[in-house]
Formats: sequence, structure tokens, C-alpha cells
Amino acid sequence: EGLTKVYWTPGKKGKMTAVDHLYVGVPRGQCFGLLGVNGAGKTTTFKMLTGDEQVTEGDAFINKYSIRKDKVKVRQFMGYCPQFDALDPLLTGREHLEFYARVRGIATKDIKSVSEWVIKRLGLAQHGDKISSSYSGGNKRKLSTAIALIGNPPIIFLDEPTTGMDPGARRFLWDCINSIVKAGHSVILTSHSMEECEALCNRLAIMVNGTFQCIGSIQHLKSRFGNGYTIVLRVKSESLDINPVMEFISSSFPSAKLKEKHHNMLQYQLGSVGLSLSKLFQAMEEAKRVYNVEDYSASQTTLDQVFISFAKKQTDLLDEELDECENYSDDELDDVAEDN
Ligand SMILES: Nc1ncnc2c1ncn2[C@@H]1O[C@H](COP(=O)(O)OP(=O)(O)O)[C@@H](O)[C@H]1O
Ligand SMILES: [Mg+2]
Repeated sequence: EGLTKVYWTPGKKGKMTAVDHLYVGVPRGQCFGLLGVNGAGKTTTFKMLTGDEQVTEGDAFINKYSIRKDKVKVRQFMGYCPQFDALDPLLTGREHLEFYARVRGIATKDIKSVSEWVIKRLGLAQHGDKISSSYSGGNKRKLSTAIALIGNPPIIFLDEPTTGMDPGARRFLWDCINSIVKAGHSVILTSHSMEECEALCNRLAIMVNGTFQCIGSIQHLKSRFGNGYTIVLRVKSESLDINPVMEFISSSFPSAKLKEKHHNMLQYQLGSVGLSLSKLFQAMEEAKRVYNVEDYSASQTTLDQVFISFAKKQTDLLDEELDECENYSDDELDDVAEDN
């Protein structure tokens, strides 16, 4: 049985499966990334693993202990940085760390040195004695991450650790996470950023509507889903009939899939098998001459695009987008439907 969470809410939504039969294993000394748009079920997965939410179905094991039957035991193995900072506004950074060190059972004589070490480790030395409500968003994230590291737990859950951080702070945290992983800890983190996962994760999964759409190493996902080319082209706005150019593209590149269509912009995904760059550019130049194409670009598909194409399947997003469209005309609505 995979790990499953169903929320019941009174009213319109009713029963809602946030996490749908997940199966995954994370070995020691590895970093696993959980990617997905908002509402994919990442936080709910963490909440079940850490005991914040009840599991509806299934089970998971940490160091062979069940998260359902041995709650007290499994919590000793984990550190957790929640998505929304759970800080006391009136305590300083150092006081937080000393408090959590005590809760984690660190010997009284070691508490000061342990907290000091974590403060230095996360670059909070200047802010250690300020109260947490005066921290910037990025420093709050650092403090929450620091709390997760207290007591050297073998498995660490980080829920969007770098959200709201500037690029410098983010890199600093990446280095820190990398060295924790090298030291033999297991880290499971969630993120919106492919770049972040590339920098940190040995393996990652893209989650949509509570299920994994794909799972594997970065290299695996790149070669499995990232192959081929992306063509973006714009048609001159005075000739807004884009059907001829669409027909031309599908006859020139039988493998072409229309990924996006907005007003005068089209985006296609082409497979790379049997397609040379010279043939690609030859056809595109012809399109430019004959079909009023204003400009175009051809590029290799990136992991970001892989992520976006999976993420589009998230139903919450569709609902929201369609709600927003209620005041639009039918034509515009058709465009949205096609895009999705
Ligand atoms: N306490 C709750 N009650 C009802 N629905 C919830 C609750 N928490 C989360 N959800 C729903 O579960 C889904 C997954 O949410 P979440 O796990 O927070 O996603 P993520 O962390 O990937 O953004 C969302 O559709 C959200 O609205
Ligand atoms: Mg979340």
C-alpha cells in the first residue's frame, strides 16, 4: 500500500485526495527532490511523514520503524523545516536553537556549543541575538533550516527551504545542504526550481495531483523527457490567420507537438530522431518567407520545460485559471482550453 492522504472538507470540494499511493525509497547519504507546483501534495506528504497529519492509507518506514506504529521512535531520527516558518516572534535565533537542542535531548553542557555551531553553519552569526520577528524572510528560512539540523538527525525534511531567499543566500544554503548529504545524512526537499534540484538532488520526482509523474536521476529525466527541440515562433500581427503556418509546421515536422498557443505566438516540441538542425532551419526560413512569421527561435528542451509540461496537469491550477476566465469571450476561452 502506498502512502495516501484524503482530506474531507465540507462544501463544494468534499473528498480530496491530496497524496495518492506514493512509493519511494531514499538511501542514506542521498538527497531526494520532490518537485511540483502549489497544491501537488508535497507538504501533505511531509506532514504525514513527520506526524503532523494522520495517514489515511499506507505506511512508510524510517530506519525500519513505521511512521504509524512507532511515532515516538521515528521522530528521533528526523529534522523538519516546515514550509511556513514555525518561529516564536519574541525569541532570538540563538534561543530557538537552544530550546530545540534541549527538546532533542542534547546534554546541557553541549547545548551552547551545538547552537553556536549551527548558527555559524548557516551564516546567522550576525543575527543570532536578534528576535526572530525582526528577521528577513530569507533569514527566517535559514533559522528554520538550522532548527531541522539540530541534533544531527540522520534524515532531514526541508519543505521549500530556499523560497524567498536571494540568490547569494540560496547558494550558501545549497553548499550547506550538499555538505550535510556528503556527511551521510539523507535529505528530502521540496522545490519549485529545477535549477535547485540540479544543484542538490541525486534523484527527484515530479508530483502532480498527489502522484509521481516521473522519478529518476537528473540525467535520466533529461534523456527520457528532455530530448528534442523547442521552436517558438511569432506570426506578424497584421496577418493573424495562423492556420496556414500551423499546417506547414505539422507537414514539415510530423513529430511536432503544439505545446502552447497565445495570440500570435506558437510553441512546438519536436523529437530529435531523424531531424537535423539544417533541415530544421531550412524549414523555418521557408516559414518566415512564405507564412508571415516575424521571428522564431529553436532551442534544446530544458528540464524547466519538462517540469512545466508535467505541471500543467495539476487540476487546481486549471480550476483557478478557468474561474479567472469567466468574464472572457468564447474565443479566448477556447485558447485557454487548447493551451491546457
Ligand atoms: N488541511 C487541509 N484540508 C483540506 N485540504 C487541504 C489541507 N491541506 C492541504 N489541502 C489540499 O491538499 C492539496 C495538496 O496541498 P499541499 O500538500 O499543501 O501541496 P503543496 O505543498 O505541493 O503545495 C491542495 O489541493 C490543498 O488545497
Ligand atoms: Mg507545500
